[in-house]
Amino acid sequence: MGGETLTVPKDLLDFSAYGKEAVGRLLDLAGRLKGERYRGEDLKGKTLALLFEKPSLRTRTTLEVAMVHLGGHAVYLDQKQVGIGEREPVKDIAKNLERFVEGIAARVHRHETVEALARHARIPVLNALSDRAHPLQALADLLTLKEAFGGLEGLEVAWVGDGNNVLHSLLEVAPLVGLRVRVATPKGYEPDPELLRRARAQLTHDPKEAALGAHALYTDVWTSMGQEAEREKRLKDFQGFQVNGELLSLLHPEGVFLHCLPAHYGEETTEEAVHGPRSRVFDQAENRLHTAKAVLLSLLK
Ligand code: CP
Ligand code: NVA
Repeated sequence: MGGETLTVPKDLLDFSAYGKEAVGRLLDLAGRLKGERYRGEDLKGKTLALLFEKPSLRTRTTLEVAMVHLGGHAVYLDQKQVGIGEREPVKDIAKNLERFVEGIAARVHRHETVEALARHARIPVLNALSDRAHPLQALADLLTLKEAFGGLEGLEVAWVGDGNNVLHSLLEVAPLVGLRVRVATPKGYEPDPELLRRARAQLTHDPKEAALGAHALYTDVWTSMGQEAEREKRLKDFQGFQVNGELLSLLHPEGVFLHCLPAHYGEETTEEAVHGPRSRVFDQAENRLHTAKAVLLSLLK
């Protein structure tokens, strides 16, 4: 992949510093890496710290495997061991890690924590999910849609559920690739209005209105990590927002179902929807690996 890597901003905390070209080229690179089942030595001798305050299956595994496939190595550091902001201030963690490793991927409760890491560390910092954004997920979502429809321009994606971190990253990246987003949330669970405005996304409180004729229906859990105390209230507030066969039947004839996983069956989705014919959920999960490789090559090479 030698000369094909990209010049991108130092950090990937969200897409605010990314333009159309950088996102388009990251997706092209990810597609090529996938096609080649790429293994190489591009990051030989390089290390990535995975600093995780919250659990993970996909993000941790794909980042670790991507580093191995690129000839590098990842070091997993969980909150119990490191105690971000408890055992040690964020600034000092940044000032230590920059002496040991070539990059930091951080999964954090507060978005300010990844911002502080990026501010204090001279090495690239990658947001592996915060309460505000999940940019690595959005790249995998785009690659999945591109594969399903051959391109992204003009596709209509309906988001049904919580106006959360995963939606924020989708909204942020949508105008960069010509994706149109319709959002259906219960009242009080809308996403950041500024991101809605910039994406020119439609907002409704009616899941059927959003789903009708859309190329993709996308949902995520109603209770995100860190919101467990609100679970009972959220279960009530999100009634009527489940993705099931009835809602999926309203999509465009070729319409697909996306979910970033993990899924809470019987809540935001049925098990049948995730394992059914419209689902691209496991392609989406696989694409976390290929897009992670593209990002790591771009940030760390
Ligand atoms: N979609 C996603 O980020 O999954 P994990 O929480 O398992 O990493
Ligand atoms: N919105 C979810 C995404 C998990 C990948 C959460 O933050 O828990």
